[in-house]
Amino acid sequence: MKLTLAATMAACAGLLPSVSATIYYAGVAESSGEFGAWSATAQVGTGLPGRFGVDYSFISNSGVDIMAEKHKINLFRVAFLLERMCPLSYGLGAKFNETHFVHFKDSIDYITKTKGAYAIVDPHNYMRYNNPSSQPFSGSIIGNSSDPAAATTAQFGAFWGELAKRFADNEKVMFGLMNEPHDMPSSLNLANLQAAIDRIRQSGAKNLIIAPGNSWAGGHAWTQGGSEANSNWIHKLVDPLNNTAIDIHEYLDQDFSGGHTACTQDAAKNLAGVTAWLKEHRLKAFITEFGGSNTPACVTMLNDMLDYMAKNEEYIGWTAWAAGPFWGPNSPCCTDGKQLGSLEPGSKAADGGPSLYDTIWVPVIAKKVPAKLQWSGPASVNGGTLSSK
Ligand SMILES: *[C@@H]1O[C@H](CO)[C@@H](O)[C@H](O)[C@H]1NC(C)=O
Ligand SMILES: *[C@@H]1O[C@H](CO)[C@@H](O)[C@H](O)[C@H]1NC(C)=O
Ligand SMILES: *[C@@H]1O[C@H](CO)[C@@H](O)[C@H](O)[C@H]1NC(C)=O
Repeated sequence: MKLTLAATMAACAGLLPSVSATIYYAGVAESSGEFGAWSATAQVGTGLPGRFGVDYSFISNSGVDIMAEKHKINLFRVAFLLERMCPLSYGLGAKFNETHFVHFKDSIDYITKTKGAYAIVDPHNYMRYNNPSSQPFSGSIIGNSSDPAAATTAQFGAFWGELAKRFADNEKVMFGLMNEPHDMPSSLNLANLQAAIDRIRQSGAKNLIIAPGNSWAGGHAWTQGGSEANSNWIHKLVDPLNNTAIDIHEYLDQDFSGGHTACTQDAAKNLAGVTAWLKEHRLKAFITEFGGSNTPACVTMLNDMLDYMAKNEEYIGWTAWAAGPFWGPNSPCCTDGKQLGSLEPGSKAADGGPSLYDTIWVPVIAKKVPAKLQWSGPASVNGGTLSSK
């Protein structure tokens, strides 16, 4: 509750509407399901289909246990590759690699059924399909009608209709439509997202949908780019159930990439434009990627950013980037390439020293996990009943 004591008393007395900013869902991104497909020479097909548990994996159950039980988070965003769910020989669409799907579903079920938390399913594909070998730039843009090799907007819709049908009976699963669309027309991003929403709802699934902006879903860039700005497009999405939130990513380094150690970008200032846009269109948002290094400046700025989300009612959830069983000593963000480990519990830096889990997750981000989160009922843009775990 972000009310002053006086306001709280007034609200209790029925003098004010009891509206307040609330984070309902908080946690971590699980990145490893998209691993093993990268090639220095951009060799098409590298790591496909890949070996589950060897080239890639989705979660470590013991890591999820620590996150859910010790740190009491209720949200995990789980990355996978479209080219593994829908092998190139099948094409993007409703036909899945059932072996791969079972591995993925096992992870989602572990999070949602065994641990009782919520999960965002995250096709980590940058709105591209057919060549993840040099992500985030390789592959045909979905729906690019000038590219004969590109999957179509309709195929993307069909993929989502099928995935939605398979998770429609699990109200704790949220549908993150796509990780970081970029360098494409915003009209096409909108068309692809709308096709996905249409097919999800046609399948009967009522699950919360999370729709990303173009330009890497960057919050700071939301209102930039003239007619291409996300602020001119994304509110045009139509969800007959009004259960679609916006997906935003925001890093604190100079170029917002999450590649650098130094934090120099003030989130409150940089998110002001997208927050005003959310308010204008009465939309809610998740920040599903953010992070920082273990410098004093980053600690301050991460705290400021988490406080900013907590006090602005437009933000209902967040996941920090990133945990995941396959990072080893490598770092998911914010280290200028230094191997400081990840947010995965038990992870260590290359020299055996403390990891980002030890220096950033435990003392900083985990401390901002609200004491009360939603632990039951459908994931919703309106949130649900809050309780402590
Ligand atoms: C489906 O996934 C399994 C497990 O990763 C793999 O062994 C198999 O080759 C895949 N099939 C296709 C058609 O990609
Ligand atoms: C669409 O495909 C054409 C043909 O391959 C390519 O020239 C163009 O750059 C693509 N569009 C975008 C936005 O990448
Ligand atoms: C969705 O929102 C629109 C616009 O506010 C409203 O007219 C409609 O009744 C809502 N639909 C549902 C299912 O809540």
